[in-house]
Amino acid sequence: MVLPLGITVDSLFKSSGSFTKAVGLPPAVYSDPEFHRFEMDAVFGADWLCVGRQEQIPGVGDYLSVTRAGEPLIVVRSKDESIRVMSAVCQHRAMCITASVDRTDDNMLDPPDLESGTTRQFRCPYHYWVYDLDGQLIGAPEMSKTPGFDMADVQLPSLPVEIWNGFVFTNFDSDAEPLAPRLAKLDAVLANYAVESLVTVDPVTIPDVPFNWKIMIENFMEMYHNSRLHQGIHDFAPSSGAWYSDPDPGDVAMFGCNETVEPDGGFNPTFKALFPPLPGTTLEERQRVVFALVAPSLLMGFQSDSAFWFYVDPTGPTTHALSMAYIFPASTIDLPDFGDTLEEAIAGVSNFNRQDMPTNVSVQLGMQSRFAPRGRYAWQEGVLAQFNTWLVSRYEAAAAME
Ligand code: FES
Ligand SMILES: [Fe+2]
Repeated sequence: MVLPLGITVDSLFKSSGSFTKAVGLPPAVYSDPEFHRFEMDAVFGADWLCVGRQEQIPGVGDYLSVTRAGEPLIVVRSKDESIRVMSAVCQHRAMCITASVDRTDDNMLDPPDLESGTTRQFRCPYHYWVYDLDGQLIGAPEMSKTPGFDMADVQLPSLPVEIWNGFVFTNFDSDAEPLAPRLAKLDAVLANYAVESLVTVDPVTIPDVPFNWKIMIENFMEMYHNSRLHQGIHDFAPSSGAWYSDPDPGDVAMFGCNETVEPDGGFNPTFKALFPPLPGTTLEERQRVVFALVAPSLLMGFQSDSAFWFYVDPTGPTTHALSMAYIFPASTIDLPDFGDTLEEAIAGVSNFNRQDMPTNVSVQLGMQSRFAPRGRYAWQEGVLAQFNTWLVSRYEAAAAME
């Protein structure tokens, strides 16, 4: 079986299994355009992708516009209060119906801004075809002289939806296996965190992060670098306290804990949590940071006083869009000094990003080198071999179908 670039499944298997024997993925998978196209189908065409949090669209008509794997999507609270995910591509002539057309000379040729907000219906800005919140066409000017045209036949394509712990997932494969059963082990670890009730605060999206999506996930998940790259600012959670769960075949979550030297540590210059501990967590849970991946799109971190999520969405072989937000218990958000403390927390995390992001940019350059390695792993980055195993199973399945 041969994949793009003449990469064989046998060669990929060298990256699978335990860290004790696995080597890095072939470097071309981090930059090659042909492999990227293959991967978009093999991984992003068939797995559950996170598109937002349910509390971001609490009321009927609230909607988010997102792009996943190059597809513009609408995530909307429908008339029956359920959450729907549907294509944002107008079924007339393919305008993105939530795209802003109010632009200046300076940005009129930039990629579209897809707007989020609240609406009673979606009206395409191009020729004013109108869709209801379920994606049914309910208005189409001047189409009565078009023989055989019936609005009842036209809907925005609808995608499957699954909600897990407040995170909304969708899938381009309408026959996909349900997600939740494959997250059971992670559910058990998060049982006391009341993840479903946490509230997203001020999410931001960086549209053009200049490295491959897998480099972002690897950097987020492995704890080997914590005591090295972040020496001095990560000492409250040293790499020696790393632990990873053992995924079974079929599991889609990879996760681990980094024990902290004291309870209630924090990613800021005080190394102490800035907010009250998450209600319901034990002292043991307050003395660790949990990092989790729901492959391929959702990264989560849980600390004593808060959690955060990252959505990773490839936009090209060497680029991705990265969305990020903190999530807090509502009781924390209601605190009088919440806004100021949040700014302090965000400034604290920036100290880590200022080391991680240039590192990731540099790894991208190195992966494109003729001297790029398929290196061995340390136990503190055992999750990378797990991620490889998951990826290779997807690559293998897609190659077998060709
Ligand atoms: S493309 Fe949407 S109405 Fe024409
Ligand atoms: Fe880091």
